[in-house]
Amino acid sequence: MSQLQAMRTHDITATIGTRVEGIDVTDGISGDVADALYGLLLTRGVLVLPNQALTPQGHVALAESFGPVGLPHPLYPRVPGHDQINIIRNDENHPPENEVWHSDLSCRVHPPFVSVLRAHTIPPVGGDTLWADMRAVHDSLSPVLREMLGRLSAEHTLEQGFAFLTEFGHADRQESLSRTDPADNRAVHPVIVRHPADGRPIVYVNESFTTRIPGMAPTESRAILGILFDAVRNPRFQMRHRWAPDTVVIWDNWATQHFACGDHYPAFREVQRVTVSSNARSGEFGTTGVVS
Ligand code: SIN
Repeated sequence: MSQLQAMRTHDITATIGTRVEGIDVTDGISGDVADALYGLLLTRGVLVLPNQALTPQGHVALAESFGPVGLPHPLYPRVPGHDQINIIRNDENHPPENEVWHSDLSCRVHPPFVSVLRAHTIPPVGGDTLWADMRAVHDSLSPVLREMLGRLSAEHTLEQGFAFLTEFGHADRQESLSRTDPADNRAVHPVIVRHPADGRPIVYVNESFTTRIPGMAPTESRAILGILFDAVRNPRFQMRHRWAPDTVVIWDNWATQHFACGDHYPAFREVQRVTVSSNARSGEFGTTGVVS
């Protein structure tokens, strides 16, 4: 039986998330399996693959089957000898910090298309990750609000996303943040973007990186963004993943947002992430450029 024939899928909620079993992705995947996973990713947003003991090389190779692997996140450490893999670790100096809905690096003019996250050290309980389907959020909005949002853009910055560093005292990341160039980490995206692969509209603002809607008064901007940030909190758009050793989760970072639950702390937790910079099969994510 081929890998593709052996593949079994189980949807996690009505709109978002599919568990994929019966295949082994640790040693490379065939073109037909890569195409099948890509197709599933586009429709389901998040793929959960249990029992995959990935090596760092296997982790990067799996990500590469979705497109070119990009530069890693500038503020997280990297796996020694594997510069493309970020380490996201909670230890005594790094309390949980991703307890905010976000899509990875939306502050980039070209935000990453896919993230591939591997469980490294999982706490005995807690530390789940949640994802929200931003296409379903869009579809839930009234036509009159959608029509107005369709004419707006919003600014996203890395400083906004990591403003909490001062509060949490992550001295090493504050130092890394001070070395980033704000011009590389500040972008304006339409509030509603269309997915390059299928044209489906997506609400593309998030509570972590999005600062404001240029052209609106601050009170108006806060009110509009507040409606959209609140919509993400509705459980009907979400899935929740309980990590187990050797699980890998792949998500469409354009169509979804995620939230890492910090309830495990002070227990140690480490996950490792590789990001795919663009969608080699469908072209680039649309942007409107940088705010002057
Ligand atoms: C992330 O925000 O990419 C990390 C998610 C997690 O730690 O579960």
